[in-house]
Amino acid sequence: MIYLKTPEEILLMQEAATLVSRTLGEVAKWVAPGVTTRKLDSIAREFMLDNGGRPACLGYHGFPGTLCCEVNEVVVHGFPGDYVLKDGDIIGIDTVVELNGFNGDSAYTFPVGEVDPKTLQLLRDTKESLYRGIAEAKEGARIGNISNAVQTFCERKGYGVVREFTGHGIGREMHESPEVANYGRRGIGPVLKPGMCICIEPMINLGSKNVVVMADGWTTRTKDRKPSAHYEHTLAILPGETRILTTFDYIQEALGDRFI
Ligand code: MF3
Ligand code: CO
Repeated sequence: MIYLKTPEEILLMQEAATLVSRTLGEVAKWVAPGVTTRKLDSIAREFMLDNGGRPACLGYHGFPGTLCCEVNEVVVHGFPGDYVLKDGDIIGIDTVVELNGFNGDSAYTFPVGEVDPKTLQLLRDTKESLYRGIAEAKEGARIGNISNAVQTFCERKGYGVVREFTGHGIGREMHESPEVANYGRRGIGPVLKPGMCICIEPMINLGSKNVVVMADGWTTRTKDRKPSAHYEHTLAILPGETRILTTFDYIQEALGDRFI
């Protein structure tokens, strides 16, 4: 069942989305060689709580952090912990906040210090694929149009498009219908209607699309151990308009000329 949100509910969605975007902006200030992923996690948790939000990932089916920390070959759902970021790493940070009963969900992959050019290009292209998907997310279009736009853009560049994890509807629950896959055919899937709120989140690998889930049952890495990138926005479909509720502007502000 796809829940259509009222205009009032979309305003609440906007508030949650803004808080998650501001949280990623705070985290961005700390991403640097020498910092642990646990430190990033506590920055995010405190910022959410200070602003009246609830860290929605924390405890979600037993997930142990506020942030999913996706270092290098980690695709999704990595645990924050003792890992110390080093020059040349990339780290995807994916997080969700609940505010006033609604959820905002966003992810961003950061370079740490000097990152090799092919990996940096993977980050740029994955972010671009997110916006290619968003451009297809219009009232009257089908979910498959979004999926196909992400897939064709990334596969033309030779990347592996992860199949096992997808975007999703969002609202009072972090994950609602419909599924928003990063691969598929145009013209299939549910029709986008005003009031729908969805998350588009390409997970794109420099090498093959294959992934493995580690023994902790969460951390998912590329099979070939090549890097993977992940960006995500929450958006609302409105009559004749698609509104991107999350923003990377706070990250851009924090990173200045290091923003890519
Ligand atoms: N953006 C992620 C997702 O949609 C956030 C969930 S993290 C979890 O799957 F830890 F809570 F699962
Ligand atoms: Co999500």
